[in-house]
Amino acid sequence: MNIAVFVSGRGSNLRAIIENENLKDLVKVVLVISDKIDCGAFKIAEEFKIETAVVGKNGISFSELIIILDNKKTGLIVLAGFLKLIPAEFVKHYEERIINIHPALLPSYGGKGMYGHHVHEAVFQSGDKFSGPTVHFVNSEYDRGAIIAQKYVDISEVKSADEIASLVLKAEHILLPEVVGLFAQDRIKIENGKVKIVGLEERQS
Ligand code: GAR
Repeated sequence: MNIAVFVSGRGSNLRAIIENENLKDLVKVVLVISDKIDCGAFKIAEEFKIETAVVGKNGISFSELIIILDNKKTGLIVLAGFLKLIPAEFVKHYEERIINIHPALLPSYGGKGMYGHHVHEAVFQSGDKFSGPTVHFVNSEYDRGAIIAQKYVDISEVKSADEIASLVLKAEHILLPEVVGLFAQDRIKIENGKVKIVGLEERQS
């Protein structure tokens, strides 16, 4: 399956997808898109000879991007640290084919302004004993689409928000490629607004 990855920063999740051995025969990253002209993730794309595009006020429009992505037969769009809201028209065009990784256990610690460091700071202040990434489908509201998967991280002993960030990031690099793989195998279904992973019930019983 051809996939496109949206990024705004460093791109460690992009790298986790590209380098994941289990994804090698399942997906191909055909385009890396950013709202920034220059970002760490573009350097990673360059390293792996993946095409890049800039969207938004510094680049092409989302309608132009739809044409490019459709031409590339893109089956899945992954938001990996993309910090701008995706316009409703774009979300509608790729309904149930856009996923996002968020660095906390949604529905807590989500919404506008809750990204990266802000999330971990709020979690640290709360005194919560667990945090962890969430992968969810994207709709036109920040962090509100159906939850696909989450990974619990024990933060009961941490001394800083930075420590939470690094523990959660490690879990992101496992969870996101896992979900991408499930999607590429057509094992993620939405029933009555809730996500079911095909084959998981059998494995657990
Ligand atoms: C990740 O921690 C991701 O969960 C977060 O941005 C970081 C990007 O890191 N996303 C959000 O906060 C979205 N609300 P990366 O560029 O190294 O993958």
